[in-house]
Amino acid sequence: MQVFFEIKTLQKYLQNQRKLGKSVGFVPTMGALHQGHLSLIETAKNQNDIVVCSIFVNPTQFNNPHDLAVYPRTLEADCQMLEEANCDIVFAPSAAEMYPSLPTLKFDFGTLENVMEGKFRPGHFNGVGIVVSKLFNIVQPNKAYFGQKDLQQCAVINCLVKDLSFSLDLVICPTQREKDGLAMSSRNRNLSEEQRVIAPEIYKSLTAASELLKHQSSTAVKQFVKEYFEVIEDIELEYFEISDFDTLLPIEELSVGKTALCIAAFMGKTRLIDNIII
Ligand code: PAJ
Repeated sequence: MQVFFEIKTLQKYLQNQRKLGKSVGFVPTMGALHQGHLSLIETAKNQNDIVVCSIFVNPTQFNNPHDLAVYPRTLEADCQMLEEANCDIVFAPSAAEMYPSLPTLKFDFGTLENVMEGKFRPGHFNGVGIVVSKLFNIVQPNKAYFGQKDLQQCAVINCLVKDLSFSLDLVICPTQREKDGLAMSSRNRNLSEEQRVIAPEIYKSLTAASELLKHQSSTAVKQFVKEYFEVIEDIELEYFEISDFDTLLPIEELSVGKTALCIAAFMGKTRLIDNIII
């Protein structure tokens, strides 16, 4: 496995690989890797000749300075995991390498900006759009891999690829969970032992809500989830939405295979998100 810190050297290497006819799979990450990330690497390995994983904690997508400050940075351990997963290339640029100057370009993802993550994290998707566009231009992959865990991010990237004609296929991979149902996330490392015990309630509320939605209105199910967390002291619900899987706009009625239940909640200062599709 080779580790690159500079755009130019990575590009030169990849140019040569492409000349040799190798297909390139790309998995962008912010590091602090876990089994969820590794599942993307594994899928990418199965579908491409070489796999590039980027590790970059992108400052422009953090709307909360505390979140950026405590975001776990574990490059050495990440590289070890990637080596064991047979990843071919790691790209771990510095902030100065990625942003010699701060971009003035602004993305507007339309209605996606006004709901859920877009609404509660102003500027977040602009930062994601900027960094992913830069990374796509640098790596020029044949396929790029994203997790369903960040469902709205997948919709944003889909929009980016379509609107800017990036010549690549997007592959969306299923959410990997701990045995107790908690969606794997780099931010789980910031939970205390007590918080970690209670955190699976987030997923449990989604599964309970999906059952209820078979018989009850979305308003009633939303009320159920609100009350569910009112009695759990350590979890503060930020939003729970019942949305159309494609547009991510709120819907009133269950449409099987097209309905996403999406949630964001705080445990102390740690913000966790999850979703299920029904
Ligand atoms: P990060 O949170 O590190 O996630 C990298 C990729 O791993 C994303 O596509 C995310 O959806 C996926 N992922 C995270 N947890 C997962 C899980 N439990 N199961 C399956 N996939 C999971 O998302 C980002 O970084 C950044 O926004 C990025 C796209 C790299 C741009 O900076």
